[in-house]
Amino acid sequence: MNTEFLHDTPEDIARAASLLHDGELVAFPTETVYGLGADARREDSVRAVFAAKGRPADNPLIVHIAETEQIYDIASEVPDLALRLAEAFWPGPLTMVLPKRDCIPLVTSGGLETVGIRMPKHPVARALIRESGCPIAAPSANRSGKPSPTTARHVMDDMDGRIAAVLDGGLCEVGVESTVICFDDPKTIHILRPGLISREDLAPYAARVYVDKAIFEQVAPDTKVASPGMKYKHYSPDAKILPVDAPDFEAFSHYVRNHAVFGTYCLLFDADPEVEGIPSMRYGDSGAEQAHYLFLRFRELDEAGAKLVYVRMPRHDGADLSVYNRLMRAAGFEVISL
Ligand code: TXA
Ligand code: MG
Repeated sequence: MNTEFLHDTPEDIARAASLLHDGELVAFPTETVYGLGADARREDSVRAVFAAKGRPADNPLIVHIAETEQIYDIASEVPDLALRLAEAFWPGPLTMVLPKRDCIPLVTSGGLETVGIRMPKHPVARALIRESGCPIAAPSANRSGKPSPTTARHVMDDMDGRIAAVLDGGLCEVGVESTVICFDDPKTIHILRPGLISREDLAPYAARVYVDKAIFEQVAPDTKVASPGMKYKHYSPDAKILPVDAPDFEAFSHYVRNHAVFGTYCLLFDADPEVEGIPSMRYGDSGAEQAHYLFLRFRELDEAGAKLVYVRMPRHDGADLSVYNRLMRAAGFEVISL
């Protein structure tokens, strides 16, 4: 298959919309990461998404909508709390898991009776959903296990020849995937995957916000988890990623210089000096900057030929929890603690 490379123009968005309408797969930009889209109602198209990614069939897809009202087409029950959150955070990087309607096949929901729903903020994504007339099922547009793509070129690196088209919308602003939540009861929000929208952001709307423990620790492959995506190793570049929890830069630098092998790189904060003799890349200082750059740097480290990457440990409160979670999962939860 020859993958079309489309641009952010009305003609190209119309072309992408018509491909989706015809059941084809199209990768498109969102504010978080690029998604690999298909008509969420068509079993054949959704099966093709799983095949193109090499994704396990029990890992459900998120359904993307362009207007809040479409939530009623996808979910069979919408609690008041979900509506209040939609009003506060949509369009934006929040996915809500709700009971699904029959129009969403079990292939899309990974066999579950629930479905994750999100209204993205990126104007190209919303135009595409509107013009195609489809609710769009879209996982991140990487091959399963790879870092999520934040540029159209990174999508092409993984998907060229496997999908009908890629729609280029520039570099994604947020850089890590949406916050995924479900509701344990009408007043309790349960965070299944951390993202830019943090526990602190959600707290004013609910009596309780519970953060799933799979965010902090490795889950055994055969465990039953609230969100199937949590049990798979994820987001990892080919290079081995090793976060180093050091009291300061000096301790980090000392450790790395004494444990460098062929192909060693460091991933540093912007404010850090160089680690003498070791090539480095940087991923920002604040949580928002680190989220924006983390996956981009993972892919650049592979392109540079890195084999082992010592990473400065991000903070893990607020929005920074999303960066910590992606890093820990890329590292298979192995950390050097000094
Ligand atoms: O920002 C994002 O969410 C991006 C863009 C493209 O929208 N999408 C994305 O999709 O990250 P994906 O498939 O890579 O991750 C979806 C996550 C998985 O961890 C999955 O297990 C969880 O959402 N999920 C989806 N539907 C669910 C459901 N019904 N119940 C529990 N977890 C669900
Ligand atoms: Mg993904």
